[in-house]
Amino acid sequence: MEKFIIEGGYKLSGSIAVAGAKNHALKMIPATLLSNKPTLISNIPEIEDVLLMFEIIRALGGEVKKMGKGKYLIDPRKIKTTKIPYELGRKLRTSVMFIAPLLARFGKASFPHPGGCMIGKRPIDMFLAGFQALGARLREDNEYYHLIASRGGLKGGKYVFRKSSVTVTESLLMAATLAKGKTELIFAACEPEIAALASDLNKQGAKIKGAGTHNIEITGVKSLKGGSIKCVPDRIECGTFAILGALLSDDLKITNCNPAHLEVFWLHLKKAGVNFTLGKDWVKIKKSPRPFKAIGDVITHEYPGLVTDLQAPLTVLLTQSKGITMVHETIFEGRLFYTDILNRMGADIILCDPHRAIVNGPTKLHGKDMESPDLRAGMALVLAALLAKGTSTIANIYQIDRGYENIEERLSKIGAKIIRQEG
Ligand code: EPU
Repeated sequence: MEKFIIEGGYKLSGSIAVAGAKNHALKMIPATLLSNKPTLISNIPEIEDVLLMFEIIRALGGEVKKMGKGKYLIDPRKIKTTKIPYELGRKLRTSVMFIAPLLARFGKASFPHPGGCMIGKRPIDMFLAGFQALGARLREDNEYYHLIASRGGLKGGKYVFRKSSVTVTESLLMAATLAKGKTELIFAACEPEIAALASDLNKQGAKIKGAGTHNIEITGVKSLKGGSIKCVPDRIECGTFAILGALLSDDLKITNCNPAHLEVFWLHLKKAGVNFTLGKDWVKIKKSPRPFKAIGDVITHEYPGLVTDLQAPLTVLLTQSKGITMVHETIFEGRLFYTDILNRMGADIILCDPHRAIVNGPTKLHGKDMESPDLRAGMALVLAALLAKGTSTIANIYQIDRGYENIEERLSKIGAKIIRQEG
């Protein structure tokens, strides 16, 4: 098991580029199976979750060929099975993203309950109900769910979300692309990666209107034509690097990003007193003239609200901000337990219940031996360790590798003292 050894307290400077969005790549990779022609995807982050998605494609019979850094050609012409291997499916949440293309193109899909970050209950009831709204029948046995389309394939339908879900919206959008007739999605999620996926599919011949809003209309088409697409920049990486800059740099430039995807997040940084400038595809962080201030309340929300995936890094900033802030995590019920680890480092955070924590700052942090609980909390611990006095070790960094490409190399280039060690 690998771990990070981090020497805290060193100033960072220079420029760091944002990778392609994990949560766009993880949808576009399975979406290539909607066509029977190859698709070339560029700006793919080379992270563990992406490699697992490629393994699933290969296990289904498809081919994946590396064409250059972050550039992969996916050829679905030899898909031979619609059953996702149990062990692979259990390894990550987005194995669930293969159901829609398999069901839409081949009329059936068998899959285990997906794995992934332990950040809450994460049921799949809305996936199942959504596919059934498009005419699929569901059967379950001990290990697998089996969905089967009626003869003639999926049929357009109407699905009303009880609460908007990112991956359910993306799944139904994919499934409806090849369904007969019109599909209406009401109270769909609006995240930028959904609009990006819809725009990729439209380029390949799909007819999707309204993606990026709560109401999406899809008119089914017979086939998609493949082609080439590019992943949008990762907004979570961009926000994480901005917090890193605020905490540890007098001059950091973040490039290859799209700051327009994080409007509400920037408002929070402004309120805390972070000194930053936004460009079209860059962010500059400079030394703040005054100490950071508490924000009062931080409430995560579906897009365009404050993104839950930046809640943990933002909390690290709040440990350095004068005053009290209530952090209210509204999306997942298991995403605040890392605050206990920050307390061991010297933070003053009261966990009120699974959804709310009170952060009292500023407090000095000191290095500790710790373990990454999940992807985003793990990255928040990296930020805390870079800031803390002394040495920290972070174990279970597989969780961090799932979403951040070569993070220690990229951070070292801007001056961080972080190394990867076996054992
Ligand atoms: N939900 C259900 N039933 C379902 C599906 C979801 O009740 O069938 C609930 C969830 O339990 C949650 C709420 O709906 O309470 C919203 O979750 P959503 O389905 O939107 O989350 P997701 O699609 O599983 C994606 C991102 C997450 C991100 C959330 C919220 C991907 C691969 N994952 O998850 O990203 O936190 O949306 O924006 O797109 C991450 O990158 O670290 C990550 C966890």
